[in-house]
Amino acid sequence: MTDKIRANPRALGIEYAIRDVVVAAQRLERRGEKVLKLNIGDPCQYDFQPPKSALEGVVEAMEMGLNGYAPSQGIPEVLEEIEKYERWRGSGIPKEKILVTAGVTEAIQFTYFSLLKEGDEILLPDPTYPPYITYAKMLGVKPVLYECNEEEGWMPVEESVRSKITERTRALAIINPNNPTGALYDEKTVRMLGDIAGEHSLPVISDEIYCQITFTGWDAPSTARVLKDIPVITYNGMSKIFLAPGWRVGYMGIKDDEGVLDEVWDGIMKQARARLSPSSIAQWGYMRALQGDKGFLKEFVKKLDRRRGIFVKRLREMEGVSTTEPLGAFYIFPRIEIREPWRDDKDFVLSFLEEEKTLAVHGSGFSPYQGAWHFRMVTLPEEGIIEEGMNRLERFLKRHIKG
Ligand SMILES: Cc1ncc(COP(=O)(O)O)c(C=O)c1O
Repeated sequence: MTDKIRANPRALGIEYAIRDVVVAAQRLERRGEKVLKLNIGDPCQYDFQPPKSALEGVVEAMEMGLNGYAPSQGIPEVLEEIEKYERWRGSGIPKEKILVTAGVTEAIQFTYFSLLKEGDEILLPDPTYPPYITYAKMLGVKPVLYECNEEEGWMPVEESVRSKITERTRALAIINPNNPTGALYDEKTVRMLGDIAGEHSLPVISDEIYCQITFTGWDAPSTARVLKDIPVITYNGMSKIFLAPGWRVGYMGIKDDEGVLDEVWDGIMKQARARLSPSSIAQWGYMRALQGDKGFLKEFVKKLDRRRGIFVKRLREMEGVSTTEPLGAFYIFPRIEIREPWRDDKDFVLSFLEEEKTLAVHGSGFSPYQGAWHFRMVTLPEEGIIEEGMNRLERFLKRHIKG
């Protein structure tokens, strides 16, 4: 074997905490242990499935003969429906500037690859959804994390955002609601971030994949609607609101009245054509879900609200951890208040797994800074499972708190 065949160190350096801890859980499972999983943000792993309208849409597409490649940008009827959804959200993003993707994940890749070059910097919330960091590193781009205030529900700290901007900054990203913290930004907060972006002529990337999963009575505002004069790249899709992450359908839309992002859009569309098309049948199912009855979503959010309530109550009763109340998405991000006997939050999570057969994700996987000494659990499981998970955590903490 010649040593010319070496992997790209950037590929070897990829970490994805959410899946990495699963390897440890699988080792336990191979030993015949049953692991209680509170780690994966996939509603279908619990008691949720996509709405009937979506399922019927996929069957309809297959029967209609939509089995070939779709247009690279997306099927025209699907683009029209997404345009309608964005009109309802208030962004007014036109279908000409919408691209159907294999989930928001592909949209992030396309955006980064077109917008960012080696040596550039991108501003991300601290903590953040890990691929925003991973893909930056793969391109030789520096992810720069702006502070969010845990005591204030993980709201972005204006001075921190300002202080992190350099001449190499190329974009400011917002995840609203946020994964892993469940922070939900109101219009004022979005405007604050937009004002800073505007002052520095930066486009805003807005991940709105959880926008209708909120517990406040109002949806996460469309950033493109709130920030009228600033170029905004919006992400959204099927995975969370319509409960089918495995279908791999999402979209990106650009609101950019002055054409500042024309070249970037061109670079994105070139990538889209090079990858042929997203799944034809899945996007048709997404379209039918967008058109269909939304009663399921109300039920979903109601259930999540109850489940999140159990987490908050139980965690606040426990010694050794504290938590903010998530206002959106389906995660909770408690802080570990005691240090010993663990080396760090990953050690905490792996010890909890080993001793109590329960899987969470270590917070430093979402940020080495503000994620440290935290862990993330999903609020998706049924109430009995949550209670059991909380009993185990309580037992685990009691065992280790010296008293
Ligand atoms: C903030 C955020 N964006 C994007 C994604 C992935 O979305 P998709 O399934 O559409 O690729 C996730 C998944 O957990 C997420 O939390």
